[in-house]
Amino acid sequence: MRNFDEFTITEAVLERVAAAADPRVRQVSEALIRHLHAFVRETEPTQAEWMAGIEFLTRTGHMCDAKRQEFILLSDTLGVSMLVDAINHRQPAGATETTVLGPFYVEGPPAFACGADISGGMTGLKLQVGGTVSGLDGTPIAGATIDVWHADAQGFYDVQRAGDLTGRARFRSDAEGRFHFWTVRPAAYPIPHDGPVGDMLEAQGRHPYRPAHIHFMISAPGRETLVTHVFAAGDDYLDSDVVFGVKDSIIRPYVEHAAGTAPDGRAMTGAYATLAYDFRLK
Ligand code: BEZ
Ligand code: FE
Repeated sequence: MRNFDEFTITEAVLERVAAAADPRVRQVSEALIRHLHAFVRETEPTQAEWMAGIEFLTRTGHMCDAKRQEFILLSDTLGVSMLVDAINHRQPAGATETTVLGPFYVEGPPAFACGADISGGMTGLKLQVGGTVSGLDGTPIAGATIDVWHADAQGFYDVQRAGDLTGRARFRSDAEGRFHFWTVRPAAYPIPHDGPVGDMLEAQGRHPYRPAHIHFMISAPGRETLVTHVFAAGDDYLDSDVVFGVKDSIIRPYVEHAAGTAPDGRAMTGAYATLAYDFRLK
């Protein structure tokens, strides 16, 4: 076959992949070809625009290393990560809603006992975080693994700074499914925007910010692992999260208190805040 033109080339490429042995490879290839060709027909790029697109993707790849995953940021900022998350986590009523993992999770975070302060050298408003882990029927889950990680009061994760791991920990829920810990209140922050994804956001007239949040990854035998955040109520960016990750059900007040006795009996000489969330696993 030869002499393809703009009207015949799509069918020709589709025919070429029809012999793929793996039906999933065939399905994904066919959809990719159909949608990519439709995109090109709709936008009718000039040769220079096509080259700019190639250069954008090349820069995106070159930006990636062990610490920076620019393709995930691209997926996040185009809403693809949350679409994949939604398709893969159609939650039954009552299950805690999921959101993006993000690039700052570290496998095997340091283990702490419940009640520990995980803020390390971080400064800011002291925050006590507490909650429970249960099944959909409310039965407490003892011994659940609770990984938490969050940005500091300046909006940076520990892995973005030189030094120790801070604001990052692994806890186990107690016999009643409860856990609590101390840290400092995280700030809203911009995602890394010094690369091609930042250039794209600027060209699209978008800001790079995420509302303040704490990440949770909670797992227990026989349960689907939950990856979510708890966002700060009232944050300026709840309605414009750059990665489209906010859901009403995972917003809670980070309640401020004057100096006094905290819920766990700790004497607080200065103002502090508390945050509570009860997680329900499928
Ligand atoms: C985060 O919340 O850590 C995050 C999520 C997506 C992109 C960048 C950061
Ligand atoms: Fe985050």
